[in-house]
Amino acid sequence: MIPSVFNGKKIIVGITGGIAAYKTAFLIRDLVSNGAEVKVAVTPSALNFITPLTLSTLSQNDIIVNTFPDSNSSYSNTWHIDVATWADLMIIAPATINTVAKIVNGFADNALTTLVTALRCPLIIAPAADMDMYQNPITQKNIKTLTDLGYFVVEAEEGFLASGLTGKGRLADLSKILDAAEIVLKGYKKDLTGRKILVTAGPTQEDIDPVRFITNRSSGKMGYQIAKSAFLRGADVTLISGPSSEKIYPEIKKVNVKSADEMYKAVQQELEENEILIMSAAVADYTPAKKKSTKIKKEDNFQNIELTKTVDILSAVKKENKFIVGFALETDNEIEHAKKKLTQKGLDMIVLNSLREAGSGFEIDTNKITIINKRLDVTDLPLLTKFETANQILNQINKNL
Ligand code: CTP
Repeated sequence: MIPSVFNGKKIIVGITGGIAAYKTAFLIRDLVSNGAEVKVAVTPSALNFITPLTLSTLSQNDIIVNTFPDSNSSYSNTWHIDVATWADLMIIAPATINTVAKIVNGFADNALTTLVTALRCPLIIAPAADMDMYQNPITQKNIKTLTDLGYFVVEAEEGFLASGLTGKGRLADLSKILDAAEIVLKGYKKDLTGRKILVTAGPTQEDIDPVRFITNRSSGKMGYQIAKSAFLRGADVTLISGPSSEKIYPEIKKVNVKSADEMYKAVQQELEENEILIMSAAVADYTPAKKKSTKIKKEDNFQNIELTKTVDILSAVKKENKFIVGFALETDNEIEHAKKKLTQKGLDMIVLNSLREAGSGFEIDTNKITIINKRLDVTDLPLLTKFETANQILNQINKNL
């Protein structure tokens, strides 16, 4: 098993006074259960929404509330320097617009903002507020300034808000904050900012009749992780997905398709707007020649399905000024077959998956791949999580662009 990226990491979780503070308990629990050592710093108003006992129990540490230590505190008199230099990462979730404004202006008027000024490690800020407060131009300007200053902002999402209104302001989903923490701890930056990337993922379903179809074992995990990593690294991402139960961030434009033909049409349409295509979908090579419009009955004595070839999307798409990445799933003579596919389909890069490798393949969270570029240079990667594999693929794309 691959150890969690959080294992042994020292993380400060900052909480400010917004209703989303109750969700941060789950964030702390996830970090601790993945092996992180967590210290929690709160603003006084955060304690209107969540209790110190909850936070100290989950983090297994005293919480930091006051700028000046209490006589019974386990922290030293210079705690803000000790804790700031101890940490590998700080995450503020939720960050109210008040705290965002204070950070932007360098205030150190409570324990949490004081810590921020002394940090040496990366800082992730996940702001949250009601929709009008969030959209307020001053808030928007401050959030942009945080990004410009090099902090990693995980923007709020649209949804139902505590006020009863629906709009943008809800704290980002915790899974996205954890993904951002992984990206930051691994040292990745927003190095894909300005890039427009189209990713395909999942299997296709080829109808036989209204009830049955032909499909394959692809879960979509790899493509979804590529889309997420690319988004977190700053890219503008569109995902074309065959049927998959994987979840994607709401900011990523998602086009749902079923058949290889639908996927082809969607790729043609979306590629015009994008410069990079990462074709990780497991597209069916064959589809039933005739799709019955009514259910095939047992009495029909149906025995053979006549198949016809689908369009090979990678070969067919217009490639001028595009960087095209294909995937190859092989069981034998892997490198040779992958190089042949790269050349025949006119690709810039190919990602080879071998079903013979332990820990790689369908429906699991790890992968072991080999990447081959246009010059036929071969890069072997070790067994990694699919999320880290996705980041390594993006690194290679960046290198070969
Ligand atoms: N692909 C595609 N259109 C298809 C089938 C596959 O664009 N109709 C793409 C896949 O998304 C993948 C690459 O082609 O990026 C390789 O797919 P794979 O099935 O491994 O290769 P094939 O060319 O179909 O060859 P074979 O099945 O014989 O290995």
